[in-house]
Amino acid sequence: MIVRVRAPGKINLSLAVGRRQEDGYHPLATVFQAVSLVEELVATPADDVTVEVAGPQADLVPVDEGNLAVRAARLLASATGVEAGVHLAIRKEVPVAGGMAGGSADAAAALVACDALWRTGLSRAELADLAAELGSDVPFALHGGTAVGTGRGHLLSPVLSRGEYHWTVGLSPRGLSTPEVFRRFDELTASATDEPEVDEALLRALLAGDTAAVGRVLGNDLQRAAVELAPELVDTLDVAHDAGALGVVVSGSGPTVVCLAENAGHAAAIGRELLDAGVVADVRHAVGPVPGARVVAQRG
Ligand code: C5P
Repeated sequence: MIVRVRAPGKINLSLAVGRRQEDGYHPLATVFQAVSLVEELVATPADDVTVEVAGPQADLVPVDEGNLAVRAARLLASATGVEAGVHLAIRKEVPVAGGMAGGSADAAAALVACDALWRTGLSRAELADLAAELGSDVPFALHGGTAVGTGRGHLLSPVLSRGEYHWTVGLSPRGLSTPEVFRRFDELTASATDEPEVDEALLRALLAGDTAAVGRVLGNDLQRAAVELAPELVDTLDVAHDAGALGVVVSGSGPTVVCLAENAGHAAAIGRELLDAGVVADVRHAVGPVPGARVVAQRG
């Protein structure tokens, strides 16, 4: 038996961050879009839970018990009383420690794959509950599409979004630690609100499929903190603006920078400008929205 699953990375089209709470987390009001940089995971039966990781930057990903996909498989096994193991082979496309929730996509993919492999038959809602235990972004990797995230980012409601969005994704030569970016946000933001709000103008622009309006209202409360920790991002943002992007924003906790383009050709042109200016390690072209974690092939 083999199960092959794909799970998407995400972009935060807007990310409003509130004041740190007693549990250490920050209340969020974000609009997620799942994009076509995807993690592919192949699950096969094994005695224990093991993982291997391939793809660019694979050497940066732990393959021990700290791996989020391993934690997901173990959580599903203990929640359902399964005693079988699994080998997880992950092919990464989402930048590592880039603010696009690649590790969360791996965890969502592992939940879906092991549910199929072990025939545990959990509902999507039950899988979402387990996902939220693994990390704030894991439920969205399961959900996909376009959604508002509140709470820690794990409470989702779907958003009506028309049209297809083309992104140039500017990869940074280094990663940023999400907790560190939130800590810097705390230092920079003395009086953050307890109740961050979703950007209504963004929701209207998505409903209308008005790409230019979406570009104008992209926003991220963590951007200043990410730029302070990775000051070279100022140049990336400048070059992307000058290249005529409809909007430019740091994705999540960064340091990946995403640029909204008018179409695939425009996205490629922005990518060339970023590479020529030497402000990014590499570029990718991504399209959104795409579906959440799902089985794409199953044998045996
Ligand atoms: O939930 P997850 O494990 O992905 O979060 C990683 C870290 O990011 C947390 O330990 C916390 O420092 C920070 N975080 C936060 N507020 C959120 C989500 C994440 O402070 N809403």
